[in-house]
Amino acid sequence: MTQNSKPLVMDFTFTSFFQSTTTTTAAIATVLLFAAVLVLVNLLFVNKRRLWKSSSTMVVKRTLLGTMGWPFIGETLDFVSCGYTDRPQSFIDKRRLLYGKVFKSHLFGSPMIISTDAEVSKIVLQSDANSFVPSYPKSLTELLGESSILRINGCLHRRIHGLIGSFLKSPYLKAQVTCDMRKLVLKAMNTWKEDRPVYIQDETKHIAFQVLAKALIGLDPGEDMEFLKVHFQNFIAGLMSLPIKLPGTQLHRSLQAKKKMVKLILNIIADKRTHNVAISQDAKDVADVLLNDKNEKLTDELISDNMIDLMIPGEDSVPLLITLAIKYLSDCPKALHQLKEENMELKRRKKDLGCVTCWDDYMSSLPFTQNVITETLRLGNIIMGVIRKAMKDVEIKGYLIPKGWCVLTHFRSIHLDDNHHESPHQFNPWRWQNRDMSNCSNTYFTPFGGGLRLCPGLDLARLEASIFLHHFVSEFRWVAEDDTIINFPTVRMKNRMPIWVKRDNYSG
Ligand code: HEM
Repeated sequence: MTQNSKPLVMDFTFTSFFQSTTTTTAAIATVLLFAAVLVLVNLLFVNKRRLWKSSSTMVVKRTLLGTMGWPFIGETLDFVSCGYTDRPQSFIDKRRLLYGKVFKSHLFGSPMIISTDAEVSKIVLQSDANSFVPSYPKSLTELLGESSILRINGCLHRRIHGLIGSFLKSPYLKAQVTCDMRKLVLKAMNTWKEDRPVYIQDETKHIAFQVLAKALIGLDPGEDMEFLKVHFQNFIAGLMSLPIKLPGTQLHRSLQAKKKMVKLILNIIADKRTHNVAISQDAKDVADVLLNDKNEKLTDELISDNMIDLMIPGEDSVPLLITLAIKYLSDCPKALHQLKEENMELKRRKKDLGCVTCWDDYMSSLPFTQNVITETLRLGNIIMGVIRKAMKDVEIKGYLIPKGWCVLTHFRSIHLDDNHHESPHQFNPWRWQNRDMSNCSNTYFTPFGGGLRLCPGLDLARLEASIFLHHFVSEFRWVAEDDTIINFPTVRMKNRMPIWVKRDNYSG
């Protein structure tokens, strides 16, 4: 091979181009050109791969459509007035048609992104406090203690949530609640008369409050219970009031009521400490659980404050769940018949065995009753959604949520979306047949929220509803008076759900 001999490929490629140049120049030029070609090919190839890669993971940026309404009040008036009608969904449905599943608005003094998209809502709920924190109306924030479980974030929140959640799910508490609830339900039912209506919403509120106060601070019916109940009603009257604290305002009255309740609970805690209940390992109520914790941040003030704040999500929701179930059952004789059969069957079985119904029977041996409860949660939307505030710019599914904006994850829209639930406005407990809803949450069904703030009282709510329904349907027949569901500011029955009852001799 001569000096001119070059690798064949190169020779073949560049010979004609270099034929008039000297050998050295040609060699240098050849190397340079070859390098350039390599770089070019490389650049093209790598970039193309990058392009392919980015297009496969690329999220389309989406613009948030919507209107911000009037200065300051935004679209709040529209939202609220729709809430009072029998079509509370219309505010959102109208905008969803115009702007898509996620849109912007301005509600309750804040720019707000409304999500009716199950995946977007799920990501928001599952985000930690670096991205989103809960946001409440100013009056509510004023009434909640600074260390309220509803307000705190991060480690302390996780700790308190975990402690409370595991106690509320414990077999000990479920057994105690079953026993208390049974006694209270039977006591209330014994006072019912056939010649006057029974107001189901009031009856269930009275019972559920006592069960809750016992579970939280170990309080038994009596003077202190009545004191707590009266002041709690004054306290919650201010949750949605004007955020002005001057004497004479509702907010001021509510704060005074809270002070009185805190004083009572501090006395109970002091009593527990004196009697060493707190040091014992067998916590009998939530206050014991928090007193037992070695974390020095859990002061007596923090605990007593939290006991009251814990009553807020727990007090109204369970009675409403039971009341709505009875409303829907009154309108659906087929479901009522099946529910009655199932509960009579359990009653007979227990009678034959000579034992009382325990919490596990209510949770596991009454599948249709649980389906009725699940369906009531879906259709009733006791909590229509929750609001979170973005702590930084967050991008979800291509939507940019700017720092400082709020997101309303609207559960009701998802629960009533016919893409996720067939004939969504129909009460159909059979739709839950053969579906495991024990964790009470999937992407399209979130009555108890999700993520770090998933309701710790969800088992308790199901258990209480199940016990009430068991005694109610197995001992009574009833006729419901006409009543309507109000959806704003909270879900409730306009006339407190009056029914006329008759003791049933039905034996199945
Ligand atoms: C039908 C009954 C109930 C429903 C529909 C319900 C619904 C909810 C929802 C949606 C949340 C999430 C709030 C958020 O993400 O900001 C929540 C939180 C909470 N619920 Fe329930 N709840 C019910 C019963 C109860 C009961 C009986 C208790 C007992 C004390 C309870 C205690 C709590 C607490 C403490 C939180 C706050 C959790 C946290 O922020 O870490 N709830 N509930």
